[in-house]
Amino acid sequence: MPNLQKLIAPLFIRRLVQSDKGRAYILNQAADAESSDEGKIFDEILAVVDDPKVHKLVKIHQEDEERHAELFLAAAKKIGVPLQEVPANLKLLARLDIALGGFFQQFSEGKRGLMDIYLLLQVIEERATTQFRQLEPEMRKVDPAAADMLLGIAEDEVRHLKYCRAISKQYAPNPEVLQATLAEFREVEGRVFGEHSRINLEHCLDEKFMDLSAAETFFWRAILRTSKRKKLSAPSDFSPVEPSFLQVHLAKARAFASAN
Ligand SMILES: [Fe+2]
Ligand SMILES: [Fe+2]
Repeated sequence: MPNLQKLIAPLFIRRLVQSDKGRAYILNQAADAESSDEGKIFDEILAVVDDPKVHKLVKIHQEDEERHAELFLAAAKKIGVPLQEVPANLKLLARLDIALGGFFQQFSEGKRGLMDIYLLLQVIEERATTQFRQLEPEMRKVDPAAADMLLGIAEDEVRHLKYCRAISKQYAPNPEVLQATLAEFREVEGRVFGEHSRINLEHCLDEKFMDLSAAETFFWRAILRTSKRKKLSAPSDFSPVEPSFLQVHLAKARAFASAN
């Protein structure tokens, strides 16, 4: 059942977004990922980058992510339900760090370089854009302002992907090493995200973040049991997110705004 994750993830996001608690949870988790996770990476990168052009891009990227965290948090607070701290076992980057053998420690010790950290950021950005593509249309049905915010952030993430590709290329010893490292990181991230998705589903069911009937709860518990047994990986969509994706979504958003 290799596509269970692909089939179920959109349905899960739809049900989660439909409830206030679920929507607040998703937005708050995104805020946490943008600030506590990605934020600290950039200070470490800035400490070792000597090329002024790259330094400038890293700064812009860092400031963008800080702004994203504020936007996500403000949108989560606006819903008006109490926000919970994101559990430690649901911090994706920390899990990724461990799965890569203590990546950040290795970076601090100089065992991992700028190519590696920019490839790690690339897989994070690939995940973010994959998530936005699933989340934005569902969000638009219930909270058009939050959906517009998502589109704005997605535009930045597409730009960040360009930074990641350019900077990792600049610091790669050769294209073969870059491709092999990227393939490894994507494989690890897919596995980690699959595990993260299972823990996330269990957390959302335990906390009753979705408004589910008894039959639906039974269904989602069965899905959880199956996915735990199968331990499926959840690769993100690596295909480059080109401006056409944003143009289509922006056109839809404008049509929606003018019709309402
Ligand atoms: Fe971001
Ligand atoms: Fe980003």
